[in-house]
Amino acid sequence: ACNERFAIRGPFITFNNNPFSVGDENALVHESDGLIIINDGTIEYAGAYSDGASRLEGCEVKSFPNHLITPGFIDTHVHYPQLPIIGAYGAQLIDWLNTYTFVAEQRYDDLGYAGQVSRIFLDELARNGTTTAAVYCTVHPNSVEAFFKEAHARRLRMIAGKMLMDRNAPEALQDTAQSGYDDSLTLLQKWHEKGRLSYAISPRFAPTSTEAQLEAAGALWKAYPSAYMQTHVSENKDEIEWVKELFPDRANYIDVYAHYGLTGPRALFGHAIYLEETEWNHLAETDSSVIHCPTSNTFLGSGFFNFQRALQPESAGLAVRTGLATDVGGGTSLCMLKSMGEAYKVGQLSGYSVSAAKAFYLATRGAAQALHLDNEIGSIEAGMEADLVILNPASTPLLEFRTQYCNSIEELLFVQMTLADDRAIDTVYSAGRVIKGA
Ligand code: GUN
Ligand code: ZN
Repeated sequence: ACNERFAIRGPFITFNNNPFSVGDENALVHESDGLIIINDGTIEYAGAYSDGASRLEGCEVKSFPNHLITPGFIDTHVHYPQLPIIGAYGAQLIDWLNTYTFVAEQRYDDLGYAGQVSRIFLDELARNGTTTAAVYCTVHPNSVEAFFKEAHARRLRMIAGKMLMDRNAPEALQDTAQSGYDDSLTLLQKWHEKGRLSYAISPRFAPTSTEAQLEAAGALWKAYPSAYMQTHVSENKDEIEWVKELFPDRANYIDVYAHYGLTGPRALFGHAIYLEETEWNHLAETDSSVIHCPTSNTFLGSGFFNFQRALQPESAGLAVRTGLATDVGGGTSLCMLKSMGEAYKVGQLSGYSVSAAKAFYLATRGAAQALHLDNEIGSIEAGMEADLVILNPASTPLLEFRTQYCNSIEELLFVQMTLADDRAIDTVYSAGRVIKGA
């Protein structure tokens, strides 16, 4: 079913460089009459229709002249088991975890339930144009089995792993340093690099792991460096104080992870709001990634991500690979367009204006770069996996009206991230197969 060759014609955007370092105009590619030829799930040609038309002999061409094609969106931090508590009222991180999260997550020892929520979650990702995600499961191996099984059946590029937590959580959500290591190893050996799947070693965050567990996580990652390491860092001021109490010998929050070998390429640090310069420098020097989760950071009242330091450091500092993410259920929407719009507002409140080109970059090629997958996904370019979103810019009566007044591609993109939602996602391709739409 996968070795068919077909083409898509329509306007598309992609990035051939990082707009935070070279400027929007040198990074954003806009093909107003584009052609994308897909062969066996991979992009064979992407460029101007006029330049590629000669390659079309015997090839079906699907035309989307009034749409806008973008790379599939990439959500670099999301919790599928928290979908049942998305939008729950109240309080800041630690209260929210205890009141809602640690209750909801207790159900995922049940393989059937985990499968049911996984299917709803993956349906929702497709409806929102998200073709790749870095996903937290729960502490239960069944929650990971169910998720990978469903993602594999759909042939999606997904990253996921078993939560590690052996203290400061309800008994029913705790593993031990040894069982957490053993279960992670078994899951990793079964699922890592199976099809398009990757495993993420996933200590929840420093407060819910003992030193023995963080050490075991570091040892596992050292044995399997092609796996990911995902965790939370420096999201909330009370959380940071708690980490200082729990790890009095460590210089700062990042130093806790660094001490156990948990920084480096393919380390994904969610939130990273209150980092000090020494922490930023350590992340840059070790080629670790940070993940900005704007709808979560505003909803839980956590604080404002430092776009400037992460992506466009002014002085000696080096930029840090950065992805954008929803962080559902702390985040309030699985829609990456909503996350882009919220990232702009976070920037506004903290003195950095995130342009449309920069926001779309963070949800596509930039996110792929944060995942070290920019040779596979995130761009519309020959050789890339054919993960694509066909967006309808006039998806609501207001947008139909408003888009008439857009005089540039930047304006059109900005209006989408400000006003559009899942209704704008017309058709979605994953490795050349339709996962949403006709
Ligand atoms: N820190 C530790 N666990 C979590 C979680 O599930 N969500 C968020 N937003 N922050 C966390
Ligand atoms: Zn999270």
